[in-house]
Amino acid sequence: MNKPPLVTHWPITPPTAGIVAYAAASMRRKLHPSSIPPWPVPFDSSAELDWGNPEYASRLLREHLDQSHDGASRRRTVVAGQVRRLRRLLPSSPARILDAGCGPGLYAVPLAALGYSVTGVDVSEAALRHARGVARQAPLLGKVRFVKGDLRSVPMEPESFDAALLVYFVLEAFPRAEQPEVLRRIANALTPDGTLIAELRLRPEQPPGRIDWWDVVPNSLLSDRRHLLLGDAVYDQRRHTYVLREIAIHDDGSVSVQQTSGWLCPFGSIPRLFARAGLPNVVMFDAWTGSAAHALSETVLVVARRRRP
Ligand SMILES: C[S@@+](CC[C@H](N)C(=O)[O-])C[C@H]1O[C@@H](n2cnc3c(N)ncnc32)[C@H](O)[C@@H]1O
Repeated sequence: MNKPPLVTHWPITPPTAGIVAYAAASMRRKLHPSSIPPWPVPFDSSAELDWGNPEYASRLLREHLDQSHDGASRRRTVVAGQVRRLRRLLPSSPARILDAGCGPGLYAVPLAALGYSVTGVDVSEAALRHARGVARQAPLLGKVRFVKGDLRSVPMEPESFDAALLVYFVLEAFPRAEQPEVLRRIANALTPDGTLIAELRLRPEQPPGRIDWWDVVPNSLLSDRRHLLLGDAVYDQRRHTYVLREIAIHDDGSVSVQQTSGWLCPFGSIPRLFARAGLPNVVMFDAWTGSAAHALSETVLVVARRRRP
């Protein structure tokens, strides 16, 4: 969610010592700066952002809705163009659409306004509350509903959706081992000729290696108080992982840490990942354009169907 890269270091072997002490300190919520591992570890559960954690809820919602950057969600002008593109790829309304990892409903609500019957699922109660409020004002209640649930466990009726969405790199936030299961659960919820549209990143917006930066900020995802914010991003091209870590240091010396990790499926492996989940018919576009994706695309829009071509 933060940008400006200043310093790069690479390659240095990421150390693992100290991680156990760090995890314990995180749990006790008394972090000492020197106990923070020098390198972020992908999918380290003691530091990984829990999108459903109420402690982060209002700050995460602020990031989702902030129109000065494309942080947790994109800006409304960008979303509007993407909804137009989705309309060309989705079955015609009134199809039933699952918006998996819907956040504050920025796609679900306009799709409902176009006549679709939309179900948004997310772990964040604050984002869902916002989405419900917008839907109520539209008024679109009856066309769209929002359900709190984890995509790894939320009950989904088999063959209950004509299409599903995984927009803004929702899939990569699951570790490599979990991605097929998340896809399989969504595939099972689709009708036999249903469509899944998934947005995947092939690489982050930085070269392989490590980029660090710092700033003094009035607030951030970690705090509403003015603090020193350290940013640390590591893209391991060989392991296809990307970690963006943030460390906040307050005037009273208290420290907090959060990170988001991604496993970025290599371009050539995407059809296999989807086929393993029961979606063997895959077309890939270069981002949100109508052009075919290629290995140098930064992001791809995967349109996957259960039926074989
Ligand atoms: C990058 S945001 C994208 C939100 C939305 N798709 C958009 O583009 O506005 C990722 C979303 O996935 C949700 N999320 C993260 N882990 C999840 C999980 N295990 N199950 C369901 N939703 C999850 C987060 O709460 C967040 O709203």
